[in-house]
Amino acid sequence: MKKVAVLPGDGIGPEVMDEAIKVLGAVQKKFSFDLAYEYADVGGIAIDNHGQALPPSTLRICENSDAVLFGSVGGPKWESLPPEQQPERAALLPLRKHFDLFCNYRPARVFPSLTAACPLRPDIVGEGFDILCVRELTSGIYFGTPKGREGAGPDERAFDTMGYSRSEIQRIARMAFEAARKRKGKVTSVDKANVLTTMVLWREVVIEVAAEYPDVALNHIYVDNATMQLVRDPHQFDVMLCGNMFGDIISDEAAMLTGSMGLLASASLNTEKFGLYEPAGGSAPDIAGRGIANPIAEILSAAMMLRYSLGQGEAADAIDKAVETTLEKGICTVDIAVDKSSTVSTGEMGDAIVAAL
Ligand code: NAD
Ligand code: IPM
Ligand code: MN
Repeated sequence: MKKVAVLPGDGIGPEVMDEAIKVLGAVQKKFSFDLAYEYADVGGIAIDNHGQALPPSTLRICENSDAVLFGSVGGPKWESLPPEQQPERAALLPLRKHFDLFCNYRPARVFPSLTAACPLRPDIVGEGFDILCVRELTSGIYFGTPKGREGAGPDERAFDTMGYSRSEIQRIARMAFEAARKRKGKVTSVDKANVLTTMVLWREVVIEVAAEYPDVALNHIYVDNATMQLVRDPHQFDVMLCGNMFGDIISDEAAMLTGSMGLLASASLNTEKFGLYEPAGGSAPDIAGRGIANPIAEILSAAMMLRYSLGQGEAADAIDKAVETTLEKGICTVDIAVDKSSTVSTGEMGDAIVAAL
């Protein structure tokens, strides 16, 4: 039996996780397979209960699992701790690094029934767009050294280091080209090669890797232009290949263009098909505890887990389809509803998706 480490975390994490588990229960019945869950604390709740954001017991549970289903971490309660002890830096980033989860897929697709939830003009969004952001996740400015602060007074300074090795760029570029092959055959590499030396190497290596994929079209775009082009005409993009920080920013923008942060699922993978699956959004302190968070990003992340790590592609397809059917019926949480007077709760959205299965 496949084992899944379930890490709900903070804020809306536990609320949306309940719905993902509900939907996973329904597909297990429908497709006759069993998953064994092991729950563990991570993030702020782990600081409260164990004194650290990523307790060794939680890490051990993840190591003994076939995949990790993650909610979200962080929130105002832990923001006054020293930065290196905060949930994001002390739990999420170390988890990504520990398992070498260098490849982060963030698929931003407009559901046909949700084009009105897209903040772009109807003539721009049209029938909707379909973008896959492939984000490098274990290097770049997030992890580069040195990183720190020095000095005092007006001379005090802080620094982070952006760096990529040739092999780090190669492996994420290959993932982007492989993905493009199964899609519309186009990779747009997002960089800042006009200013950053790291990005000069990035562009060089991406061009070299492209030679292995003559069937895939490649173009390059500076990140500032990319953010602008996304709102001018998102249809021009298929796969967007990004370094760690640019991918973080571009994917939030793309998420909102699909209607809500609560729709963007993600898969963070290593070379062994082990993955951590989580919504791209955070713990949403502004809406936590009110039962109104959109659980779709967590539910679609669970579907990606079935597809990429657990060998249950059919069940994953069924979840994707059930989400689409539910939205076609006009069932919406408040974040994606155009008519705010008729919305469903987090739990009702989960129930509706189960019913559509
Ligand atoms: P956020 O993604 O939590 O929220 C941004 C906005 O999107 C908010 O208005 C929120 O209500 C909305 N939103 C997000 N998910 C939603 C959902 N499922 N349904 C409906 N609306 C949703 O970003 P933030 O406010 O910048 O960060 C809050 C906390 O979360 C911070 O501590 C941050 O570091 C953390 N964070 C964690 C993760 C993670 O655990 N993977 C990711 C991003 C941010
Ligand atoms: C994300 C989040 C994280 C990131 C934070 C919480 C560390 O914003 O997964 O997009 O920046 O990678
Ligand atoms: Mn982010």
